[in-house]
Amino acid sequence: MPTARAAGAEAQQGVSWPMARTCPFQPPGRYAELRATTPIAPARVWDGSRTWLITKREHMRALLADSRVRIDPARVPRLSPADGEAEATRSLLTLDAPDHGTLRRVFIPEFTVRSVRAMRPGIERIVDGLLDRFDSLDRPADLVAELALPMSTLVICELLGVPYEDHEFFQSRSERATRLMGDEDSVTALLELRDYLDGLIAVKARATTSDGGVIGTLAQGLRAGELTHADVLDNAVLLLAAGHETSAAMTSLSVLTLLQHPQAWQELSADPGLLPNAVEELLRYLTVADGLRRSAAADIVLDDHTIRAGDGLIFLLASGNRDEDVFPSPDVFDIHRPARQHVAFGYGPHQCLGQNLARLELEVTLGAVLRRLPELRLATDVEALQVKEDSAIFGLHGLPVTW
Ligand code: HEM
Repeated sequence: MPTARAAGAEAQQGVSWPMARTCPFQPPGRYAELRATTPIAPARVWDGSRTWLITKREHMRALLADSRVRIDPARVPRLSPADGEAEATRSLLTLDAPDHGTLRRVFIPEFTVRSVRAMRPGIERIVDGLLDRFDSLDRPADLVAELALPMSTLVICELLGVPYEDHEFFQSRSERATRLMGDEDSVTALLELRDYLDGLIAVKARATTSDGGVIGTLAQGLRAGELTHADVLDNAVLLLAAGHETSAAMTSLSVLTLLQHPQAWQELSADPGLLPNAVEELLRYLTVADGLRRSAAADIVLDDHTIRAGDGLIFLLASGNRDEDVFPSPDVFDIHRPARQHVAFGYGPHQCLGQNLARLELEVTLGAVLRRLPELRLATDVEALQVKEDSAIFGLHGLPVTW
């Protein structure tokens, strides 16, 4: 807890953001304090601009669905001097209404429950292929490098229609591009991804029929004049960056969580029908995407606070998912609790477009691990695991396991 003097200074200057998360299972300790004392808290980012930290789930849902709350990257709180200096894009995550809705509608058919369900056999094949290799691996092996990252890369490559042989390139660039501080290296990685996809879109736009991937479908729209080149390019980069690191992080952290909860492991092995609910609870409990950023376009009054036009807003999803008013005993991992009301995929117009796919990836991968690696165990102390403190997506650098 902060001392009384520090608390007084904080009230004037604001809570400092970002905060490091150091434990695989727990959000930063300050989140619970803020929820209890200052759920709408004045915050301080590096340049001192007026910003609020939002820690209660109901406040998040109200504000993230409010049309006065905008995502325009030129106005959201910047986390470092280099942050926000990359070339402006027209990706879903940079557009506000009405442009956002118009573009999102183009993507929706590719991500419905039905479209995603059709990807199940492909995902099962990818996961089985990766697990087949486990027999010949030296033990201990790193589950992040051998399963989580290649699984999510291969699924995204299949979704987009990116050739398999380019997956290593994607993996390294995508990881570097999602670093929290927006440093020079992450900007370079993003530009390299864009160049590659630029070429791929041009090839697919020349093809007379779509070969099935999302880029192929969108490239057809480009040929028909329904989409601009920037629409296709910026959103192909977004799908890759948004879908790769997140699913990989959730996969390795989920396996770790189940290893730490042997009762849940046994129950899920005995009854895979429990997996869909367990996946919701894992999404709630682990919340790998945190700190969504927005700005207020007009004055907003909420619970006696006036958020002024131009103020920044930072939504701590990992706090909302531990909100005791919504989830009793929130720090307990319980695969039987109703967890679907979590905000791990955000809320409002920008709520995760890939959520059905993410759920399916987790269900298929965890199901296969439970079935095919029943003796899996951690090959190190939990305390020795290296967590990603410097990334926009929380995760593990490695997960040494044996079986
Ligand atoms: C467990 C894995 C995932 C998590 C936790 C996650 C989380 C999120 C969150 C919190 C947002 C909202 C961002 C904001 O409002 O600022 C988001 C948006 C988005 N996600 Fe995911 N995501 C995951 C997987 C995926 C996958 C697999 C894809 C696609 C391949 C994807 C594509 C997107 C896109 C396109 C958006 C932007 C939607 C829009 O602005 O309209 N995500 N995701």
